[in-house]
This record gives sequence, C-alpha cells and structure tokens, in this order.
Amino acid sequence: MKRLIFATNNRHKIEEVRAALDGTAEIITLSQAGLFGDIPETADTLQGNALQKAQWVWERTHCSCFADDTGLEVDALDGAPGVYSARYAGEHCSFDDNIDKLLGALRGAENRKADFRTVICLIENGAAKYFEGRVDGQILTERHSHGEGFGYDPVFMPDRFAVSFAEMPLSVKNSISHRGLAVKKLAEYLTHAS
Ligand code: IMP
Repeated sequence: MKRLIFATNNRHKIEEVRAALDGTAEIITLSQAGLFGDIPETADTLQGNALQKAQWVWERTHCSCFADDTGLEVDALDGAPGVYSARYAGEHCSFDDNIDKLLGALRGAENRKADFRTVICLIENGAAKYFEGRVDGQILTERHSHGEGFGYDPVFMPDRFAVSFAEMPLSVKNSISHRGLAVKKLAEYLTHAS
C-alpha cells in the first residue's frame, strides 16, 4: 500500500482522511515523519498554499505527500475571506471573531451565496497534482449550532439542506463537504493509479 505524508497537524483532518483513504493509502503524520515546526502558508491562492505546504514536506523527505487548503468564498464580498478565511478578523483571532466579522459584513445583504472550496496538492516523484472539492450554500443571518462547531460551520447552510454544517452529524457533513469531496477525488485517483 502507498504511504503518503499528510502536511497537517490537525487531528480531525487526519482522522477524516485516514477513514476516506482506508485500504488505499497509509497516512503518515508530520510527527511520524519526524517533521516539526510551522509550515509556511504565504501564497495568495488556495492552490498556491496547498502546493507550498506539500512542497515543504517533499523538499525535506522526498516521500509522496499531500497538503490541503480551504477557503470560504462569499459572493457579496467578491470571494472574501477566501484564502484568508482562518485569519479574516486578524492574526490570532478565534472562530467566533471571524463569524462576527462575516455577519457584520453581510448585515442587510440579500445575496448571501457562498461556497467552501478545498484544494489538495499531491506530490509524487516531484510532480504536483491537484484535487478540488466545492460545496455551495448560504451564509445564515445568525449562528445555528448545538455546540461549538468548527470554523464557519454555525453560519453556513449547504444547498438542499435546512440546517447549518454545525447542526448535522459529522458523517453527513463529511459526505457532502468541500474537503470530503476533494479527499474522495484523491482516493479515486490513488485507487486507479496503483
Ligand atoms: P484550512 O485551510 O483547512 O485550515 O481552513 C482555513 C479556514 O477555513 C479554517 O480556519 C476555518 O475557519 C475555515 N474552514 C475550513 N474548513 C471548514 C469547514 O469545514 N467548516 C467551517 N469552516 C471551515
């Protein structure tokens, strides 16, 4: 089975990706690969950041590896916060700060269309390949959540659903989400390429 290093320290992402790639590839974490320290993310596109993170791992290991980058793209804000979604309200802001800023920016807006987009960059033998997942939806006017919720989950309602991402079981969210779709494309590619 293929071994791939996943360029993230996020435990939830590692679990999600391991489940999706079960039987297709063995996922190695950064610490298992002996890689520590912050990976730079300074590009101005999702594709650029995914490439930058995967390249960081490739240059240090020359092992097959991949990285992902996600952004929330809001129509009425010309695609913002996009690649800056994690730090929309400032460098060390919380999920709540980001949501407050977003709801403020869209106060009174009729067009509340938005999408989440994930780009995965896979590097094998030094060559990069990209896989993209996207989910369209709406930004709600207030939080809809049973608990904490990840990122913008409490204010994002995917099309064809009447609840926010934060209100649905994680298994349902993962089956329709941007990251879930991108990982599925990666899994299909790895299945057919092996
Ligand atoms: P990352 O590239 O996966 O780290 O995502 C960047 C930022 O986008 C995160 O810090 C979150 O604010 C937001 N984000 C990414 N994925 C999701 C999601 O599934 N739900 C809500 N927000 C997300």
